[in-house]
Amino acid sequence: MTQATDVERAAGTRPIAVTVNGERRESAIEPRLLLVHYLRETLGLTGTHVGCDTTSCGACTVLLDGTPIKSCTFFAVQADGQEVTTVEGLVQGAQLHPIQEGFSEEHGLQCGFCTPGMMLTAVALIGEKPDPTEEEIRWALSGNLCRCTGYQNIVRSVQWAARKLRDGDTAGASSSGGEAA
Ligand code: FES
Ligand code: FES
Repeated sequence: MTQATDVERAAGTRPIAVTVNGERRESAIEPRLLLVHYLRETLGLTGTHVGCDTTSCGACTVLLDGTPIKSCTFFAVQADGQEVTTVEGLVQGAQLHPIQEGFSEEHGLQCGFCTPGMMLTAVALIGEKPDPTEEEIRWALSGNLCRCTGYQNIVRSVQWAARKLRDGDTAGASSSGGEAA
């Protein structure tokens, strides 16, 4: 845990050091500040969205040490000393992450509001299960709501990314998906 200075204690703030998308970020923040607001307002990483604010929609999903969490109900001070990945951390230079390519190739988004959370949840799933079944994909994404797509193309996007990450081959990546929405 990062130790507070006398000035920070007097101001009611606490110092935190969080590695965000590979970069160490140090801030003095109010203990009540939620992680999603720390990311969006303190660090300017607005790719993490706020939908419901009540742990229901998944729009605010980020990875904490590789595990998806809903940052709208997680205090930023709880992330002190840990690693956070947001959607901005998926791209490597000019190279999109396979999950980003998958959503593009398989038309996995419409308005895009849910998409950052969907992609981060999917990245964690593929990290655990390189060849997830459609049922496993739907289960993993069950905490991420989409009001636009009907989910079928989101499932295909995850299958596309999983296939590319497994063997670099994307041909037919969407052909194993079912038709249920
Ligand atoms: Fe966090 Fe909806 S904004 S779950
Ligand atoms: Fe609009 Fe999912 S693409 S909410």
